[in-house]
Amino acid sequence: MVIKTFDEYQAAYKHSVDDPESFWAEIAQEFHWRKPWKKTLQWNFTEPTIKWFVGGKLNITENCLDRHLATRGDQPAIIWEPNDPHEASITLTYRMLHDQVCRMANVLKRNGVQKGDRVCIYLPMVPELAISVLACARIGAIHSVVFGGFSAQSIADRINDAQCKLVITADGAYRGNKEITLKGTVDDALIGCPSVQRVIVMTRTRTPIAMFKGRDVWMEQELKQVTAHCPAEEMDAEDILFILYTSGSTGKPKGVVHTIGGYMVYAAYTFQNVFQYKQDGRTGPQVHFCTADIGWITGHSYIVYGPLACGATSLLFEGVPTWPDAGRFWDIVDKHAVNILYTAPTAIRSLMSFGLDMVKNHDLSSLEVLGSVGEPINEEAWHWYDDNIGKNRCPIVDTWWQTETGGLMISPIANVTPLKPAYATLPLPGVQPILVDENGKEIEGNGVSGNLCIKFPWPGMLRTTYGDHDRCKQTYFATYPGLYFTGDGCLRDEDGYYRITGRVDDVLNVSGHRIGTAEVENAINMHTGVVESAVVGYPHDIKGQGIYAYVIIDQAPVDNDTDLMKRDILATVSRIIGPIAKPDKIQFVAGLPKTRSGKIMRRILRKIAEGELESLGDTSTLLDPAVVEEIKEGVV
Ligand code: PRX
Repeated sequence: MVIKTFDEYQAAYKHSVDDPESFWAEIAQEFHWRKPWKKTLQWNFTEPTIKWFVGGKLNITENCLDRHLATRGDQPAIIWEPNDPHEASITLTYRMLHDQVCRMANVLKRNGVQKGDRVCIYLPMVPELAISVLACARIGAIHSVVFGGFSAQSIADRINDAQCKLVITADGAYRGNKEITLKGTVDDALIGCPSVQRVIVMTRTRTPIAMFKGRDVWMEQELKQVTAHCPAEEMDAEDILFILYTSGSTGKPKGVVHTIGGYMVYAAYTFQNVFQYKQDGRTGPQVHFCTADIGWITGHSYIVYGPLACGATSLLFEGVPTWPDAGRFWDIVDKHAVNILYTAPTAIRSLMSFGLDMVKNHDLSSLEVLGSVGEPINEEAWHWYDDNIGKNRCPIVDTWWQTETGGLMISPIANVTPLKPAYATLPLPGVQPILVDENGKEIEGNGVSGNLCIKFPWPGMLRTTYGDHDRCKQTYFATYPGLYFTGDGCLRDEDGYYRITGRVDDVLNVSGHRIGTAEVENAINMHTGVVESAVVGYPHDIKGQGIYAYVIIDQAPVDNDTDLMKRDILATVSRIIGPIAKPDKIQFVAGLPKTRSGKIMRRILRKIAEGELESLGDTSTLLDPAVVEEIKEGVV
């Protein structure tokens, strides 16, 4: 399954298009199936129905853990680096991880979790997070991991949508020099979550917390009650593995559903090929360091499932790149002799701004492959990464993909695909991209740009949105019938290389986090005194995009302190969604530019937020063009 040359890539690509079923069947055969599948693929993009490895039976944890015990039981599976560099790191071998996953799975069973039940996980980046995820998969429970930066309200929305029965959390989390409460936030969330019967709490910060009799139990005590014997549940390839909530252009976040067989095959295949992971690296099995949080898809696929399915060593980091100083990543690379570093452009840009002194005095010679994910990488950041971190000897794989795609889609294969700075380059085998115009007409040839769609299923793609299949259909398959629409704009250059230019819908990408403008507007509108708001993105040097909010209020701020009122609005947004959705700029306005039919003309607001005050285009269709002048004068 490993591609070693560009010719092999081209041959694999051709095979994957000419005969997708035999292509993926060959790859899937390398895994452990309890029962073979009867049909490799059944699909249509209308309903949509997508089924891979139909009738196949397996358990993903047998593939990620048990299968490796005989050959590499004593090899590190997870290396954990804590927030504070003075605290000891922890290494879990495959045998130890297997043992701990089985124990945690037994704890879940003891607490009433059964196959098919949903479990919400709200934990810091500690080994127990990966262990909990795998423990759910062991017994066929469906995990829904919620990123630690989300508010009580966001947790409650996700728990209620999936009707979770149990929550796994911690007392608190360390992030840089901050200590964050987790259990308190979960307690607030659970006031409105009748489906939750049990909360398992681990201690991390050992902060005093409320523990409610009959509902809350300590993880450490529970673990003492169980053995490490837990046979894996036999699952269908199309049973749900997890739900992961992500933002779209309308409404509340949707629960993207991934199923076991296809997701496993795809996460493993893409991990192995794109990063060219080697068991026999210069000093033994390579160390793969993905800096994402397991609360996002990148962490699911490239910290947990992809690497473990391939028997790799995956490094899990609890902290932040800038604490105790901006050399923290380089310190980790040096300390653990990291070979593959996979991070986001926003982190690179932020670290760039601290200067090269932070990189100096760290031995980065172990690095062999660098990766980028989550947002377009600008050329300046690409070259800085290449020159100063990879020292011009490590390929940079700029990987384009989405929560919905489950795994990497358009990306170079390290040391195989000729690179071009800031390009995601070429589709991986099995991925059939197509560019379309506004009307859904295919844009053929090279040197063109359009809306990026995918015209054929791949094993890692989403199957539905939890509890609302029609939403899945409307969001991804209705805009251009017969195609999966990504929501991204894209150009294909003269060489047929792809470059993702950013979202074409009302979704923002702030520091690599996906945030819907409608969600932020709803949160702002919940603030006392706010009548209406409109949120757009604007270019931000570090975050990629910043959030700009235009807000109409119906009363003067208390004490006439507008600055304080803006901070109040930020507090409301933090409460409703979480700190990651706080606007960077708020401008109070008397009106918003609307058409006669009442639609906000976001194009104009975007231009103003971008500082392009002179080229606003046609404003004659506006109900009240004077509004625009007023907004231009008040730009913040
Ligand atoms: O706009 C694209 C951008 O991130 C979106 C997906 O966000 P999310 O589902 O949160 O997943 C992020 C991690 C896979 C995409 O629609 N995006 C992701 N990777 C890239 C990118 N934009 C440009 N280049 C990339 N490499």
